Amino acid sequence: LGADTVDIRNLYKDLGCFTHDPGFVATASCSSKITFIDGDSGVLLYRGYPIEQLAESCEFTEVAYLLMNGELPNQSQLQDFNLEINDRAIIHESLRKFFDGFHYDAHPMAMLVGVVGSLSAFYHSDLNIKDPVSRKVCATRLIGKMPTIAAASYRHSVGRPFVYPRIELSYCENFLNMMFSRSSQNYIDQDHYIDQDFVKALNLLFILHADHEQNASTSTVRLAASTGANPYACIAAGIAALWGPAHGGANEAVLNMLAEIGTVENVPKYIAKAKDPEDPFRLMGFGHRVYKNFDPRATIIRKTCHEILKKTQSSDPLFELALAVEEQALKDDYFIERKLYPNVDFYSGIIYKALNIPVEMFTVMFAIARTAGWVAHWMEMMEDASTPISRPRQLYVGPTRRDFQPIDER
Ligand code: ACO
Repeated sequence: LGADTVDIRNLYKDLGCFTHDPGFVATASCSSKITFIDGDSGVLLYRGYPIEQLAESCEFTEVAYLLMNGELPNQSQLQDFNLEINDRAIIHESLRKFFDGFHYDAHPMAMLVGVVGSLSAFYHSDLNIKDPVSRKVCATRLIGKMPTIAAASYRHSVGRPFVYPRIELSYCENFLNMMFSRSSQNYIDQDHYIDQDFVKALNLLFILHADHEQNASTSTVRLAASTGANPYACIAAGIAALWGPAHGGANEAVLNMLAEIGTVENVPKYIAKAKDPEDPFRLMGFGHRVYKNFDPRATIIRKTCHEILKKTQSSDPLFELALAVEEQALKDDYFIERKLYPNVDFYSGIIYKALNIPVEMFTVMFAIARTAGWVAHWMEMMEDASTPISRPRQLYVGPTRRDFQPIDER
C-alpha cells in the first residue's frame, strides 16, 4: 500500500486478518472432486482420468456423463444418457420465436445469454433445486438444448430457417446438421452429408473444453448458484463471463488478431507490440493463468489442427500466418522468460474455421462444451447443503470518514 493509504489501514485495525488476493491467484474458492490441474507439469484430469486418454477414446456425451456422475458410463448407461440428451434437444416453439426478436446482426453470444437465461420461464415445473432428480433433469436439459440454441443463434444471424434436432444423430452430428443443413425440415439434405472427420474434430474440441476447474465462467456459475439462483440463470451468468476475450472469447480474438496482422512479414512488428509494456496489445492465444509450461489441451489439439487442415487442403493464408506467430513467439526471450505458450484457443479457432464455423460462433462453441462442466459443478455444489453464499471481502482504498457538505458549499 502507498503512503497515502496509511489511514485506510487504521480503518481495518479491528478486523483481524483477511487475504487480499485480486484475481484469486492463491485462493481456492471451494473444494471439488471434478477436475484436477497441475499447471507446472501440464496435467489435466477429469474425475482422475487423463485428458489425453479421454480425448483419444471417448465421445463427448460420455465425458459429460463422467463429469456429472463421477464415473464413466457402461454401454447401456451411455445409450440411455444419449437418448435423454437427444430427447431434450428440442426447444419450446415459443422459445424458438425469441430469435425473431433479435436484430439480424446480433452477436450469437448475446442471443445465447438471453435465450439460456429465459429457459427458467419455460421449464419451471421441475425447477426444485433441492431434489436430486430435478437437478439431473435441469442438467441434461441444458446439455441437450445448448447445441439447438447455439445453431438457432447462427441461423438467425445469417437469415436461414431453424433446423430441428434429430433423435437418431449423435451430439456433434446433430449440431453440424442444425448449423449447416440447407433445409429447415427435420431431415438431412441429401446433398449435404455430415463429414465424419469433422464430427471427430468437433467431438475432440468439445471434450478438451468440457471443464477446467475454477476458471472465470465456472466460478461465476458457482457464485450465482451459491445464492440459490436457478440453474438456467446460473449458466446464463457463466456464458456472460465466458464471452470476454481473456477467457472464452480468446479463440475469436486469435482469428481477429491474425486478420489484423495480415501477412507473415508483419509478425515481428506485432510480436514487438505484444512485448511493449506501454502497448495494451497482447498475443491472443498465448499464456494461461494456470499452465505455466504447456497447455496439455494445446498439445492434443495441435495434431488435429494439422490433420484437419491437410484434409480440407486449406489454402487459407491465415494458417501459414498462425504458424509464423507460433514459431516466432516460441523462440522469443520475452515469451520464454514469462512461460507464455500457445493455449488451447490458439488452435481451436483455426480448426473451427476449417470446419466452416464462423468466427463469431467460436465462443458459442466453447459454451456448448463447457456446459457439461458448468452443470457438473452446479450439481456438486447443490449436493453439499452446507455451501455458504459466496461473498468475497474487499480491501477498501477510498476516502476515510469525512463530513457531508451541503450542495451549495461544494
Ligand atoms: N502477450 C503478451 N504478453 C503477455 C501475454 C500475451 N498473450 N500474456 C501475458 N503476458 C505478459 C504480461 O504482460 C505480464 O508481463 P510483465 O510480467 O512484464 O508485466 C506477464 O506476461 C504475466 O501476465 P499476467 O497477465 O500476469 O498473466 P495472467 O496469468 O494473469 O494472465 C492470461 C493469463 C489472461 C490468459 C494472459 O496470458 C492473456 O491475456 N493471454 C491472452 C488471452 C488469451 O489467450 N486468453 C485465453 C486463456 S485460455 C482460456 O480461457 C481457455
